[in-house]
Formats: sequence, structure tokens, C-alpha cells
Amino acid sequence: MQIDIITVVPGLLEGPFSHSILKRAEEKGLAKVNVHNLRDYAIGKHKQVDDYAFGGGAGMVMMVEPVARCIEALKSQRDYDEIIYMTPDGETLDQQMANSLSLKGNLMILCGHYKGVDERIRQKYITKEISIGDFVLSGGELAAAIVADAVIRLIPGVLNDETSALSDSFQDGLLAPPIYTRPAEYEGMKVPEILLSGHNEKIANWRFEESVRRTKERRPDLLEGTDFE
Ligand code: ADE
Repeated sequence: MQIDIITVVPGLLEGPFSHSILKRAEEKGLAKVNVHNLRDYAIGKHKQVDDYAFGGGAGMVMMVEPVARCIEALKSQRDYDEIIYMTPDGETLDQQMANSLSLKGNLMILCGHYKGVDERIRQKYITKEISIGDFVLSGGELAAAIVADAVIRLIPGVLNDETSALSDSFQDGLLAPPIYTRPAEYEGMKVPEILLSGHNEKIANWRFEESVRRTKERRPDLLEGTDFE
């Protein structure tokens, strides 16, 4: 999977993809993130990418032409399953969306900046609009990094332990159970006996019950309409 991200602040995306799991995904040839500077597609000697909003009001708007040129240039190089726009008025990201995006071929992600992009770009090119939550960031870059991270780690082969993504919170509609590592006792606080028992089936049952308990306590909304309500 190739993820092409279009931004006016490429520096914001330099760090997240050169470490840990995302770096390994690239080294294994499973996923690659390419960051594109919108300014490279600007028109005129001032390299302008934003302009005042028609009708007035505070804040600049990302111009149609540079964004369209950039999208067209990328589309001429490869096919995309989705052209995504990061915006607070998009569909809220959740694990189900991450799962379904992880099954796609290539993704393009346009990061909104300033007041956002000219509506005509959304009409002509965008196939999916994603928000990472009901709050406003100063741009879509950090949100795009979050989407890319959530998606790439789900691509088969990216995580070493194939089962580890399956035991994540939300993956089965429940929050993850408590986890422990050595030492077995810390300042009088003991790891639950069952986890030291070596009895795999009992451990699996305990983890499941703890998941349900934790979900009931913290996110009862996730259990609505299920047997655990
Ligand atoms: N850009 C600004 N705020 C955002 C949000 N909450 N989600 C996605 N993109 C954004």
C-alpha cells in the first residue's frame, strides 16, 4: 500500500513515519508513506497556495488549482482506492474504518489547512472525508498521521505477532483487558494469580471477562444492543 499525503506543512509529517512499526512496514515493502508539498504545485512566482474566502470572513482558503494539479500528478502515477480529505466535518475515524481502509490498495490523503480547501476540490476529487474527533486541529496533518498509523499497523505482516492487532481495544467491540509484565509483585501489588498459572483457556476466559467489565465501566455505549448490556 502506498499512502500519498498532500500538505502545506510537510515538516509536520517528517517524524511519525520514520520510526518503529511504520518504518518496519516500509522496510518490509508492505506500506510506504510519501509526503508531497503542495507548494511544489503552486502557480506563479509567489508560489501561492491559499487565498481570501469569497464572501469575506476570517481565514484563508486552499486554492483549487495547486491542489488539483497535485492530485492529477499523483493520479497519473498510480491508482487510488480512496482520495481522503482530513476535516473536522468528516466521518469520525473508528477501528472499523481503519480495518476497511487497511484492505485497500493505495490511498491519497489531502490535509486541510487554513480554513480548509475550496469546496470544488471536495466535489471533484474527494471520495472520503475523515475526522479524528469533535475538536479542531490547526491542520489535517496530525490527523492524517493518525489515520496512516491506525491503517498501516493492520496490514497483514506489519506486526510481528500476527494476533496482536486482534487483541487491541475495539477490535472485537470491547476494550482491552489489563496487562502485566515482570515483576510479579511490585510494592505489594500482585499480578492476578491466574496469569501466572500457565492455564491458557482460563487465562483467555479471565481476559474476556475483564474486557467486558472494563467496557461496561468505561464505555457502556459500546455494549448497546449486545448480550453484555
Ligand atoms: N483538521 C482539523 N481538525 C481535524 C479533525 N478533528 N479531524 C481531521 N482533520 C482535522
